[in-house]
Amino acid sequence: MSEFIKNMPKVELHMHIEGSMMPEMLLQLAEKNQVKLPYQTLEEVKSAYEFKDLTEFVDLYIQGTEVIQSADDFYELTVAYLNKCQEQNIMHTEVFCDIRTYTDRGLPAEMVLDGIESGFKKAAKDWQISGGMIPTFIRHLGVEKAAEDWLFYQQHTQRFLAIGLAAIEVGYPASLFKEIFSEVNELGMPIVAHAGEEGSAEYIWSAIKDAKVSRIDHGIRSLDDPELIAYLQQTQIPLTVCPCSNISLHVFDHMQQHVIKKMLDLGLNVTINSDDPAHFGAYLTENMMAVKQHCGVNDDDLLRMTHNAIDASFAGAERKHNMHHILDQFEAQHVQ
Ligand code: ADE
Ligand code: ZN
Repeated sequence: MSEFIKNMPKVELHMHIEGSMMPEMLLQLAEKNQVKLPYQTLEEVKSAYEFKDLTEFVDLYIQGTEVIQSADDFYELTVAYLNKCQEQNIMHTEVFCDIRTYTDRGLPAEMVLDGIESGFKKAAKDWQISGGMIPTFIRHLGVEKAAEDWLFYQQHTQRFLAIGLAAIEVGYPASLFKEIFSEVNELGMPIVAHAGEEGSAEYIWSAIKDAKVSRIDHGIRSLDDPELIAYLQQTQIPLTVCPCSNISLHVFDHMQQHVIKKMLDLGLNVTINSDDPAHFGAYLTENMMAVKQHCGVNDDDLLRMTHNAIDASFAGAERKHNMHHILDQFEAQHVQ
């Protein structure tokens, strides 16, 4: 394993909290909350974590969330992920969550926020990890549900870093949610959106024009559109790229075909992230290892993506300055 990558201070901007639920925790919470799952053993869970595409993945992902039933469960899940962050030298992380999956089952929305927030408090105190939550709209459930969720989210904006858009992309461009996003923008809340993961470059344009996003999650399909490449070069809108996710969901057949190096060489504002590390078998360190091994990404590129992620984060100016400094010190010690 590359010691450089292992020890490098890191930042993660694209990680769904339920996507960090390892098979062990899934089974343990299922037992605790008496939820019947279609698998009983670790091997059965692991072999279920094979996906044809994003739709199949999202279905299984949502099924797995049934085992989470209280703020305590969210706390446990969040602390386990943040403990992993500490092991991987992740200084700052911004995690996606949603309430809809739980409110539709009659559970309170507050349990999601309370549990995750308590986990971040512990990580700030014990491990000096900063970050917070980005609640999302589940786009394939449609605009009415998103509007209801927005009614709740707007009462809690001070607890969030931004508002996001996730789940099944094709058929659900950001334009469908344009009116909600204009209200989000009016409140001065930043917006991020999954776009150009399975969907075409048009979905990225829609996120830019209709949602006025601060960041694009994925954005890999931008390379299909020269005009969009020029726009992203000029505006430097950050892209939260998730290489191992793209392989697991068959966006590319093999890591060697991934376009991350090409995006970097075009001067796009690329960051590297894990998306759903439990499901895709790769946390941030492993994503960095994979692109170094297969895509021609070198240590300088990894440092550059981490500086990009610091700047693209929603951390305050002082924390950003402090993280750049930590990374510069690491670089001074490790790069000749
Ligand atoms: N929710 C969890 N992971 C996701 C992904 N890769 N794309 C869209 N929604 C998601
Ligand atoms: Zn994602």
